[in-house]
Amino acid sequence: MCGIVACRTDGIAADYLLNALSRLEYRGYDSAGVAIRTTAGTAATVKSVNRVASLAPLLVQFPPAELTGTGIGHTRWATHGAVTPGNAHPHADCSGRLSIVHNGIIENADVLRGRLTAAGHRFSSDVDSEVVAHLVEDAMAPSAATGEAPGLAAAVSTAITALEGSWALVVLDSQTGGMVATAHRSPLLVARTTHGDLVSSDIAAIAEWADDYWALRNGDVVEIAETLGWTRAGEPTSAPRPIRKTWSSAVHELEHHADYMDREIDEQPEVAARILDGLGSRIADGSLWRDTGIGAFSRVTVLGCGTSLNAGRIIASAFSRLGGLPHDYVVASEASTAVLDPKALVLAISQSGETADVLRAIDEMGISGNLVALTNNPHSTLARQADSVINCFAGPEIGVAATKTFVAQIVTGVAYALSALVDSGRMTRRDAQRQVADLGRIPDLLAQAIAVSRDVIPAIAAEVREASGFVFLGRGSGVVYAAEGALKLKELTYRWAEHYPAGELKHGPLALIEEGTPVVVIDNGDPRLASNIAEVSARGGNVLRIGGPGSRIPALGLSLGTPLLGAMEQWGPLESVVPVQVLARELAVLLGRDVDKPRNLAKSVTVD
Ligand code: F6R
Repeated sequence: MCGIVACRTDGIAADYLLNALSRLEYRGYDSAGVAIRTTAGTAATVKSVNRVASLAPLLVQFPPAELTGTGIGHTRWATHGAVTPGNAHPHADCSGRLSIVHNGIIENADVLRGRLTAAGHRFSSDVDSEVVAHLVEDAMAPSAATGEAPGLAAAVSTAITALEGSWALVVLDSQTGGMVATAHRSPLLVARTTHGDLVSSDIAAIAEWADDYWALRNGDVVEIAETLGWTRAGEPTSAPRPIRKTWSSAVHELEHHADYMDREIDEQPEVAARILDGLGSRIADGSLWRDTGIGAFSRVTVLGCGTSLNAGRIIASAFSRLGGLPHDYVVASEASTAVLDPKALVLAISQSGETADVLRAIDEMGISGNLVALTNNPHSTLARQADSVINCFAGPEIGVAATKTFVAQIVTGVAYALSALVDSGRMTRRDAQRQVADLGRIPDLLAQAIAVSRDVIPAIAAEVREASGFVFLGRGSGVVYAAEGALKLKELTYRWAEHYPAGELKHGPLALIEEGTPVVVIDNGDPRLASNIAEVSARGGNVLRIGGPGSRIPALGLSLGTPLLGAMEQWGPLESVVPVQVLARELAVLLGRDVDKPRNLAKSVTVD
């Protein structure tokens, strides 16, 4: 999704901006641009609908000595307006003095544009963001009474009062070198470093230079000058508590891996083991849950999107299977009609913590009091809104397709679920200890699934290369893993893929099966799957069974002798996610897709 960077340094702004923007590429974008203050007090602005790297040659038109150390930059993921250089950020006011970069959506942009146009402003793009440049321009006009013009921070404070929607904004005044950052429901960070002042929407962009940073709260306006001036609604305010960076720039190393997804699939056993090491001793005595401070609840409602919602469904089922608690799940983008049980624990689950659909759902559903955020970003907007935050400690995930965050969410979420059940008296400590022992097998199960998948799946991917579509089937605890497999396959290969509870086949989807149709079956040991497999085989379908020994992809349970039904039913066959990830990736590579940046998708979906 869109990314913001800005710098005020004594060095070469282009070096900082282009380097930082390249570190945001993993989020997905379709155009990029920078505006750098010149020594003449103008803006040197270049934009491109190609990669960030294509900006450097465009800057050659400006003599290097005239470019200062102050500038702003942006990667855009189009929502309003086509992907054109004109619609790429930064955008400027009528005079070209002010440049702005914006993440989020200005919901009343059409009204504002009409009003500003009528007042004589000239727009040069189709995007909502441009209204901000003109609003600040208006707000900087000298007062008729005193003849004095407000400073940039005051003008930005005035301008944002007209906005509806969400924004992270940096405004650069090329004439004075003034720079102001502000945010409302969209992340923005400011760091004061030995390299100068840096601003970004994502710590990944500036982690190389910054050790500590401040995350702007809704309504914060920060003047980036000799001292950082913090205001809210025009009044001075204190800075929020600084945050110590946990993101290491080493995560950008691919080591021997072909792409980040490849690396992140391999990291999964280690991630699961690290989480269990950290939480293990506090699960079975209930203290892990008690420390969240969340009150009693009699139902679990999970809220999320995509892969995170799949993880949430598995965690919620664990509450039901193990503790008899009813559960439901809400697709965040459809939350407006959901009816919330006031006694429900709401588990909002999002690796980024910035997913606009989830944030809006929390507002729409009026959730308060029992909101727990399960996220990989404990400083995110979601985390700040929640009553309690559970960090899933997956470490930075660069590939757009969620892999290790899914595993981390499930392992962490199930650990907290077990602890909550003990704390509320729904499970004995002894039973919980048995469950914790089962959880402890997950790292080995994942490692074995990786070994098997790397061995057998490349040949299978070559075999199904020409298939136009795929069906994924499961029963019981396997259904959500089938859903996750279909999601991974379509997002990476651009082939259609649907999942069904296997019993539903005969109610319609069986009509899709023809000679050679690949049908991936998550075989969790449910005996009823045999007849579903027979139905598919009888119609010539190519059954790719992910199960125990003897199956086409024998990635489950293997030599650990796990009984496939029983022990694994609480959270399903978690290791089955590995072969579906590997299948999607191998096929995507064969088809020449960009594995880490699938088309049209973004890592952090900050628009709803
Ligand atoms: C799929 C994927 C997406 C995300 C979804 C929610 O591989 O990554 O489906 O799971 O966009 O994102 P978060 O978890 O950031 O809320």
